[in-house]
Amino acid sequence: MADALDAAALDQLFLQARTRNAWRSETLPEATWRRLYDVLKFGPTSANCSPARFVFLTTEAGKKRIEPYLSEGNRAKTMGAPCIVVIGYDLDFASRLPKLFPHNPDAPNWFKDPKTAEVTAFRNGSLQGAYLILAARALGLDAGPMSGFDNAGVDREFFAGTNVRSNFICALGHGSDTPFPRSPRLDFDEACQIL
Ligand SMILES: Cc1cc2nc3c(=O)[nH]c(=O)nc-3n(C[C@H](O)[C@H](O)[C@H](O)COP(=O)(O)O)c2cc1C
Repeated sequence: MADALDAAALDQLFLQARTRNAWRSETLPEATWRRLYDVLKFGPTSANCSPARFVFLTTEAGKKRIEPYLSEGNRAKTMGAPCIVVIGYDLDFASRLPKLFPHNPDAPNWFKDPKTAEVTAFRNGSLQGAYLILAARALGLDAGPMSGFDNAGVDREFFAGTNVRSNFICALGHGSDTPFPRSPRLDFDEACQIL
């Protein structure tokens, strides 16, 4: 059994980590995003279906492509980041199950119903988006997740001709802002039951 992480690690992942809205101006190497993916990909998904698809926008030209679709309030803080990731989910994820779940050749048939495929892709793709945020923090990056954008426009721009749909986006880099005071969370008794 593994030991619990020490206090510094918990601070970095959760207790002191904050959503960031302004970014140090820097160019981070491609190896950063490859390493990030190679960590987050091991977060669990049902039947190992791994439906998330990630578009890392790291150049000015790449970032410009998403700018028109960002909501007004999100535009400046997103465009200033070294990287903007579009986190999508592939409704055709089942076609990759022969690679991802090779010990059960029947697995693709479990997702034939489009509604089941959609719920599975969205659920697991959202989990993978959360793994991205936590993997980024674990690797010393800050994250600024955002859902305020035109999903249909982003889908046309980045996922045309596919069955990938955008879920949310996430700015990545090193935060340069002073975050406002942390908003409260629900207490244990408000959010949890022990039965
Ligand atoms: C999926 C998701 C979507 C979000 N969308 C937006 C957004 O569109 N605009 C924004 O300013 N913040 C957005 N946020 C940021 C949240 O408001 C923020 O993470 C939350 O208040 C917690 O802040 P903290 O991490 O500093 O405690 C989003 C966060 C998540 C996880």
